[in-house]
Amino acid sequence: MKLFIDSADPKEIARLAETGLVDGVTTNPTLAAKNGQDYVETLEEICRTIKGAVSAEVLATETAGMISEGRRFARIAKNIAIKVPMTWDGMKACRALRSEGLMVNVTLCFSAVQAMVAAKAGATFISPFIGRLDDAGQDGLTLIREIRAIYDNFDFKTEILAASIRSVPHVRDSAIAGADVATIPPDIFQKMISHPLTDKGLAAFLADAKKAGVRIRDE
Ligand code: E4P
Repeated sequence: MKLFIDSADPKEIARLAETGLVDGVTTNPTLAAKNGQDYVETLEEICRTIKGAVSAEVLATETAGMISEGRRFARIAKNIAIKVPMTWDGMKACRALRSEGLMVNVTLCFSAVQAMVAAKAGATFISPFIGRLDDAGQDGLTLIREIRAIYDNFDFKTEILAASIRSVPHVRDSAIAGADVATIPPDIFQKMISHPLTDKGLAAFLADAKKAGVRIRDE
């Protein structure tokens, strides 16, 4: 499974990328607003660190505007994925941008039929928002399973990008349900490998080694 960071904070992204485990980044207008910097400059800074797909979301709502903003983003770096909303204008923009060889991430997906339409429009990624579905009293993971089944039935190549992740179990369950990618907020990424028994076990190993004077000799 690919692990993306869901953030528009270039410094935080660079820090997490030091793990060598960051396969890409997703941004959106809300995250860009939180960062406060110019959006294009932010994306340029992120693309200096991250070589995998970096999603940049259009603000236009009609096809022509989306295409022109998408082309602007695409000039930033080769690894930009243009994020368009799950609307008919978005689908037309998706087709057009894909025909120019650009990556497209279709965002704000809340149903399996929407995901099927996005795949037919040639989307590189589909972003089902599992946390927002859970917040609305529905089951986000069921949506991932449904999309996986449809994509496998018809051999659609669109990658399922689990978005709106709220917890470490969301990452686990998205992987089990067959998502290709999870985009993870920085605080949840940090928590992914925390376990009290790991900390306790490590402390005990080090204490035992110290007590017994265990050393690792240089060659
Ligand atoms: C990522 O592509 C999405 O925009 C993001 O995961 C949405 O997350 P939220 O529902 O926490 O805003």
